[in-house]
Amino acid sequence: MAEANFHFPPSFKWGVATAAHQVEGNNTNNQWWAWEQEAGHIKEGAASGLACNWWENAEADFDRAANMGLNALRLSIEWSRVEPEPGKFDTAALERYRELLRGLTARGLEPLVTLHHFSNPLWLEKQGAWINEGTIAYFTRYVEQVVQALGEECDFWCTINEPNVYATQGYLMGSFPPGQRDLGATRTVLRNLLRAHAAAYRAIHHLQPAARVGLAHNLRIFDPANPSSLLDRLVAWAQDSGFNRSIIKAVWDGWWIPPVGFRPALSMRRTLDWIGLNYYTRDLVAFDGGAPETLYGRATHAPDAELLDGGYGELYEKGLFRALKRLSKLDIPIHITENGVPDSDGDQRSRALILHLHQLWKSLQYNLRVQGYYHWTLVDNFEWAEGWSLRFGLIELDPATQERTPRPAASLYAAIARGNALTSGLIDTYAPELRAKLLPG
Ligand code: FCB
Repeated sequence: MAEANFHFPPSFKWGVATAAHQVEGNNTNNQWWAWEQEAGHIKEGAASGLACNWWENAEADFDRAANMGLNALRLSIEWSRVEPEPGKFDTAALERYRELLRGLTARGLEPLVTLHHFSNPLWLEKQGAWINEGTIAYFTRYVEQVVQALGEECDFWCTINEPNVYATQGYLMGSFPPGQRDLGATRTVLRNLLRAHAAAYRAIHHLQPAARVGLAHNLRIFDPANPSSLLDRLVAWAQDSGFNRSIIKAVWDGWWIPPVGFRPALSMRRTLDWIGLNYYTRDLVAFDGGAPETLYGRATHAPDAELLDGGYGELYEKGLFRALKRLSKLDIPIHITENGVPDSDGDQRSRALILHLHQLWKSLQYNLRVQGYYHWTLVDNFEWAEGWSLRFGLIELDPATQERTPRPAASLYAAIARGNALTSGLIDTYAPELRAKLLPG
């Protein structure tokens, strides 16, 4: 039987990723909490509630991550805790974050801190949040406060998580607050988020010259459903432009491109020290004349695709390599800031993890500059509009009792991180059906 171990570089970061609102609990002062209280917004009428109780006791889960042999963890700062009212900064909240970051470092987990991950303080949302240009200055002021308070504990910052997802889900698809369906508003929000990123990039470097500042981009693959159809190819290209290319063009080349805009944005050029990739799935896009809001594309799946829970899409691991190859054109370090699968009964996660890490390994053989992998996520958490229906955790959570039960992929991921390798032994133990594919001969 063929034996092969897929090794990773010595300083590779093995982490898990989270976001404040999804794990902290009782974030009562942001727009998501308010949105959750109104019927019809969250699947099964769920709410974040106590979430994973991190505000009280994230340390218990930090212990779990450290015991798995991980060496990195991505979390986010909740703006509404730090600045509960405009211009009033809560030093006790900042102190709690400092304690959390110290706790991570003490356990050998390098913190990667996101400054905006979907949630806004209620006071900001009430005045329109990212539809207004004025929010860029508010955000910069908040970022400066955070970096001043926490800069001793962290130099690795992610300004904004997935500007494309925030803008499209909130302003085009209507599934995130404020629930709008307006292409014009979507463009405005996206532009303001990216300008805020650029402003934050400069502000952080001013306070902390050696900081490593990036953003997390959700790169979704859009392939034409029928590659020989010109219309399918056109709409797949248009969706890719709107969702992926326009973001990278803005913060790297300093250009707004359609559909987001059509003019230079030179002050935004090269505002990345590294880029974060959040990769989950791909769409096969078919032309649909009745869907102007999605640029005339309709998402379908490959007929033979393995599908994920809750209509989440295809398990398409090759997209990870394709996305990394694409981002590597920037020639800056890449961190996979999120990757995972919704899988409540835990029967796909180990296979998915092995397949994706094999693609990551392959990207390293091509000398792509990937330096870290942050699995989404450690413990099941509040999955936005999907509530508790989609379970992304290596560890299962019963939100009512806070009881945690590791899924098989938790020990798999731990073994990979500890050995800094994906071994044939692990493949045989956790997903023997993959042997023929990954270890031929
Ligand atoms: C990403 C989000 C993250 C989580 C995962 C499943 O788009 O950044 O908060 O919801 O999807």
